[in-house]
Amino acid sequence: MTVLLSLRDVWVEYGERIVIEKLDLDIAAGSFVSVVGPSGAGKSSFLRLILGQEAPTRGTILLDGVPLAPECGPDRGVVFQRYSVFPHLSALRNTILGMECAQAPFAARLFGRARRAAEEEAAAMLRAVGLGDSMHLYPAQMSGGMQQRLAIAQALVKRPRILLLDEPFGALDPGIRADMHALIRSLWREYALTIVMVTHDIREAFTLGTRVLALDKRRHDPHAPHRFGATAVYDLPLRDRSESEPSSITVDAIGNN
Ligand SMILES: Nc1ncnc2c1ncn2[C@@H]1O[C@H](COP(=O)(O)OP(=O)(O)OP(=O)(O)O)[C@@H](O)[C@H]1O
Ligand SMILES: [Mg+2]
Repeated sequence: MTVLLSLRDVWVEYGERIVIEKLDLDIAAGSFVSVVGPSGAGKSSFLRLILGQEAPTRGTILLDGVPLAPECGPDRGVVFQRYSVFPHLSALRNTILGMECAQAPFAARLFGRARRAAEEEAAAMLRAVGLGDSMHLYPAQMSGGMQQRLAIAQALVKRPRILLLDEPFGALDPGIRADMHALIRSLWREYALTIVMVTHDIREAFTLGTRVLALDKRRHDPHAPHRFGATAVYDLPLRDRSESEPSSITVDAIGNN
């Protein structure tokens, strides 16, 4: 196993309030980590840590053995539940914007030949997520599923090694969700991605993940709810990346534990 990300004794605190405590984790290159846990457990905070959007108050995070560089690096892409695309830009412009951030972080604009190359790459990525016919639509003209495809294209066009998904399919109806599962799984394979996905849907967590991580508080102080933070209370390896189909572990079996 090649370790891509290492978290060592990581804490997130806001003043007196402890959100994450003593998180020790190694995330293997190529794994698909599903993150579950109750609302407010710190799942989004955990993603922000990996994204470099937030620094731990204690502990270290290493990417390839090197301390994590700040946000907008090309190695990490992110998709949120909704509103992660810009409403005033077409699908194509939204996707190009993802690239501009990666390639020209200071100017955030590309010109001339670089721009045409970027347009071609963005168009190819939109085709890869099934939006080949919708490149010139604006988000308001697209369904929720199409907007999430666009958000995925925007994140992947940077060619990140790590894709962070924060409840990306939460707002979609079940049929569209199934399509999105197939899409994300094929992109995961095709682009050799490492994925960390937060979801409230336990079935989704087990269907897609190679590993399921549950974040929750180990200890509770009823008189001081913020005294203890969440950590990895369950860490279940499910299958290897090479095993293409969902494992034989069923949601029902886990639910009875
Ligand atoms: N900037 C901040 N200042 C103070 N507290 C914060 C800040 N950001 C997050 N928190 C707190 O951290 C805790 C965890 O928040 P987080 O958004 O990570 O939870 P979550 O597991 O993603 O929840 P949900 O499932 O509802 O999305 C919450 O109690 C929240 O109030
Ligand atoms: Mg959240």
